[in-house]
Amino acid sequence: MVSEKVLVLDFGGQYNQLIARRVREQNVYAEILPYTASLDRIRAGNYKGIIFTGGPNSVFDEKSPHYSKDILDLGIPLLGICYGAQLMAYMLGGTVTTAPASEYGKTDIKLSSGSKLFNNVTPRTTCWMSHTDYISVPPEGFTVTGYTKNCPCAAMEFPEKGYYAVQFHPEVMHTPEGSVMLRNFLFNVCGCKGDWVMSAFVEETIAGLREKIGSKKVLCAMSGGVDSSVAALLIHKAVGKQLTCVFVDHGLLRKNEGDDVERVFKGEFDMNLIRVNCQERFLNKLAGVSEPETKRKIIGEEFIRVFEEEAIKIGAVDYLVQGTIYPDVIESGVGDAAVIKSHHNVGGLPKDIAFKELIEPLRDLFKDEVRKSGLELGIPADLVWRQPFPGPGLAIRIMGEVTEDKLSVLRDADAIFRDEIKKAGLDRDINQYFAVLTNVRSVGVMGDGRTYDYMLALRGVTTSDFMTADFARIPYEVLDICSRRIVNEVGHINRIVYDITSKPPATIEWE
Ligand code: XMP
Repeated sequence: MVSEKVLVLDFGGQYNQLIARRVREQNVYAEILPYTASLDRIRAGNYKGIIFTGGPNSVFDEKSPHYSKDILDLGIPLLGICYGAQLMAYMLGGTVTTAPASEYGKTDIKLSSGSKLFNNVTPRTTCWMSHTDYISVPPEGFTVTGYTKNCPCAAMEFPEKGYYAVQFHPEVMHTPEGSVMLRNFLFNVCGCKGDWVMSAFVEETIAGLREKIGSKKVLCAMSGGVDSSVAALLIHKAVGKQLTCVFVDHGLLRKNEGDDVERVFKGEFDMNLIRVNCQERFLNKLAGVSEPETKRKIIGEEFIRVFEEEAIKIGAVDYLVQGTIYPDVIESGVGDAAVIKSHHNVGGLPKDIAFKELIEPLRDLFKDEVRKSGLELGIPADLVWRQPFPGPGLAIRIMGEVTEDKLSVLRDADAIFRDEIKKAGLDRDINQYFAVLTNVRSVGVMGDGRTYDYMLALRGVTTSDFMTADFARIPYEVLDICSRRIVNEVGHINRIVYDITSKPPATIEWE
């Protein structure tokens, strides 16, 4: 389906997914493979260009990730970024050493305007640096095309061979002209045409699904989230009522969310959607439970049980749909991070449902591409742009035991907070924002009386990947309105705090 693609070869850096996303923003399909991928596999990929990513190591450390020099002879243009640039220098006989002064953060750089990579880039510009090693002697045949105060070879190239390298990170927003540089590499160096557009993806995926599914039956578990909604709608557009969606409403969704999902997908799109209202069932299971991981497990398991029970009523199906997206399937050759929380526990694969094959129509998409596809399909912007919401829902935003009363208090408070953030025009700038009902009660005074009620916490973060996050600098005026409205309009809250921790050391959710 994709006629041209670029490989992002992962050497363990933290911005690798971001590089792939930035490439795709230029309408070129990018794929990530670990540095352990074989040369045969890379050859078979028919890539128009290869990007060596950054990484935390030193090239001269024996244990650091390397790649066979044969990759240099594939005749495919190469762009090395940070560690990737040093690796390219090292592989081709240049010298990499520990820099006398390491660089971190925004740095002034002087670039050569004669380079294809820097076409239409200001010769004196800013870049984002993060390195302790540097290329002290470039390999033979290379021309230095950029330098900073402390880095004599901040960019180098050997155009005849198609080799380009930058010490800085063009993929981060702190390199303001980075996207022009990536565009230059893709279009001027690799000769890409830019045929990766979401309208074509949607159209081709629907046609492909229609052909694959034929007259067979499909089943989908909808959680109410963006991914499963878009996946289901693609299938619906392909085969209509042959698809049955089971929307398990565990009663832990935000205010009006379940109704909105039903109204849009059943009402407007006329999907074959069964909403199973089972708040009581989940609350019964959660009664007396306050340990976060136990809550997660109970909800994940119960979700699957409810889904299985509904599926049995529907009878055997041929296909089961999952809203898996690209970050879930990227292979990592660099070792997995420690499990801090058991994410993705909701919507795990059911054991007792008879189906022949799994369909994952969003397997190749990043989240922003899923949203764009959702808009192409006509899903209202409000639903498409919803912030991420954890599978276990409000249960992990209520500290301690989950009860119907606490859910109702939290839903109302959270709705006010979201409403005010939207009114202030901050809803697209803050990546996730929500209220948390703590288990702390404190003394307050309202009117002439003493109160002893709950403390609510507000949380807002900015992040590009949800792996690390910064607390959002919400203006005091906005926090002030939220605080006053929540205390006045929602009962049982007499104190509100704003969470000013970043991740790490905190996580985004409180449980
Ligand atoms: P943390 O709290 O780990 O959250 O910083 C990172 C992102 O993951 C979401 N999250 C979850 N998503 N099931 C999910 O599907 C979960 O159990 C879960 N826990 C956290 C969280 O909302 C944030 O976007």
